Amino acid sequence: MIPTIGVCYYPEHWPETQWEEDAARMVKAGITWVRIGEFAWALMEPKPDVFDWDWLDRAIEVLGSAGLKIVLGTPTATPPRWMIDKHPDMLAHDANGQPRKFGSRRHYCFSHEGYRVESRRITALMAERYGRNPHVQAWQTDNEYACHDTTVSYSPAATAAFRDWLAQKYQSTDALNRAWGNVFWSMQYDEWSQIDPPNLTVTEPNHPHQLDFARFSSDQVVAFNRIQCDEIRKHSDAPIIHNFMGRETSFDHFKLSKDLDITSWDSYPIGFLSDRIGETPTFKARFLKQGHPDNQAFHHDIYRAAGAMRTEAAPHEGRWWVMEQQPGPVNWAPWNPAPLPGMCRLWAWEAIAHGAECVSYFRWRQAPFAQEQMHAGLLRPDSEPAPALAEAMQVAGEITELGDVTAAAAPVGLVFDYDSCWAWEAQPQGADFTGFDLAFDAYRALRRAGLSVDILHPETADLSAYRLVLAPGLLTLSDPLRDALARYKGIALIGPRTDTKTHDLSIPTPMGPNIPGLDVTAVVTESLPPIADEPLEKGRFVRWFEHLEGRDTVHMETRAGQAAIMGGAHLRYLAGWPDPDTFAAIIRTLCTEAGLDALDLPEGLRIRDTARHRFVFNYAPVPMKWHDVMIPAAGVHWEARS
Ligand code: GAL
Repeated sequence: MIPTIGVCYYPEHWPETQWEEDAARMVKAGITWVRIGEFAWALMEPKPDVFDWDWLDRAIEVLGSAGLKIVLGTPTATPPRWMIDKHPDMLAHDANGQPRKFGSRRHYCFSHEGYRVESRRITALMAERYGRNPHVQAWQTDNEYACHDTTVSYSPAATAAFRDWLAQKYQSTDALNRAWGNVFWSMQYDEWSQIDPPNLTVTEPNHPHQLDFARFSSDQVVAFNRIQCDEIRKHSDAPIIHNFMGRETSFDHFKLSKDLDITSWDSYPIGFLSDRIGETPTFKARFLKQGHPDNQAFHHDIYRAAGAMRTEAAPHEGRWWVMEQQPGPVNWAPWNPAPLPGMCRLWAWEAIAHGAECVSYFRWRQAPFAQEQMHAGLLRPDSEPAPALAEAMQVAGEITELGDVTAAAAPVGLVFDYDSCWAWEAQPQGADFTGFDLAFDAYRALRRAGLSVDILHPETADLSAYRLVLAPGLLTLSDPLRDALARYKGIALIGPRTDTKTHDLSIPTPMGPNIPGLDVTAVVTESLPPIADEPLEKGRFVRWFEHLEGRDTVHMETRAGQAAIMGGAHLRYLAGWPDPDTFAAIIRTLCTEAGLDALDLPEGLRIRDTARHRFVFNYAPVPMKWHDVMIPAAGVHWEARS
């Protein structure tokens, strides 16, 4: 696979006289792909059923005839103002029951039937018009589903759709009452129409009620997206992409990706570290201008796995892109530092090393107006080059030199499950327990050991390609995964919390985990506040600790003599949430048993192996040594794989 570079462009933001020069400069910079269209509904259809496609026809022609391939976005993330007059009840409602207003973007409820019809209509019109246009070589549906907390809506439309979803799932309110345990606190329902979304309850709503609402909300996003994919496929053979977000678990990206040919995500490393990742101030200061050294890679691996869902390919063969790559300071984080020189190149190479077919920078030119005017682009607002342009050009040149960068199967698999994230959000039991962070900490430990990782979806049925598998924090196990674990001949570390609940989020009898071949039961659970920990013989558990019983071997103990890891030759159960050093040490021990070489990489140095190369990335703000090579701060090094 020969990767490419792309850019996001908004022809509607610039005078038409500028388009040709912009296109020529993009081509000269080595850019292959240009994404357009995704926020331009008000220009395509200025009034209901009054269309103006001419400007878009011309933009596509100008960009395409300059030699660029176009990703055409459907504009449904920004319904025009007239749409709200036409469908006043299409707005999503927040948890207080208030409608979210017009005046920014994503102001729609996924469940609103009228808006779904509008979304199908505009998508069909675009697909009919541009489906066979030779310049349109890919599609993007909508833009960043879930962005600005928009998956969940408590609107009347969502309420009605939730009731239908429950009726289909349970068939009778008796079955629902049993599944949810509604005998508790006299919460039984007799009619579907009595059931509301789980907001504004006096104290916490019933956990399965919350979990089902999360599942329903996710299904609404999947259904909304599927409508657009179906319309596009009627008129076009070009691949369909959606641009996912980072640290966003509110819908099941694996499920949605079954309708996509290529997945992608929008990577803003510095914005994320500043805004969304819980790290110490010292760590945040050290990586302020580089981003978290493991955050991008984790998402690359998740979305590569998601990109394999439609064709059921192996996880490392998934097709995926970075649709938006941070090019400089952004506007939306609490503070917005500029990347260290070199980072806009490093991030691109890291994505490519994880299998990205394209890294597309957001955006071509910084806008001098509106909400994102403080957000950098490859060009400044005055059209002079911004610092990232030279780095993007460097990547484009280096790609030509390096040639094929095909991903290889990783030796390690890490199971990641959206449903479990929702379950633990409904029932964290400890204020800092999140499924995403637990999986991320496991991933970090693997990366520190220098291992390349494949993310596995929770219905994975075959683990035989991996020497080591981690399955932290899974609510329950799907039948295929339970069977695969029972048959597994490598080393699998499951837990904490894995398979300790039923699908309905209650406690099973016998208590879990219940995997053939593992004689371990988690009988008592403790959550640990930040002021406390559970000391181990070596290291410590933080946040979470389960007391285990069973006949299997104790492989590691707490200082008080309780089991910390317990199991047999192949399956092991981890009783708590190890702190980073402890997790890294556990991984090194397991690697030795599994016959894998494990390193202990210094903070900032990270590795990724492809079929032909080993890539080494220096996220540190200072030069770092890799064998006899000195890699500068924000530097990338690659060598042929032995
Ligand atoms: C993304 C979004 C873009 C733009 C960008 C700014 O979330 O898809 O439209 O807003 O952030 O960083």
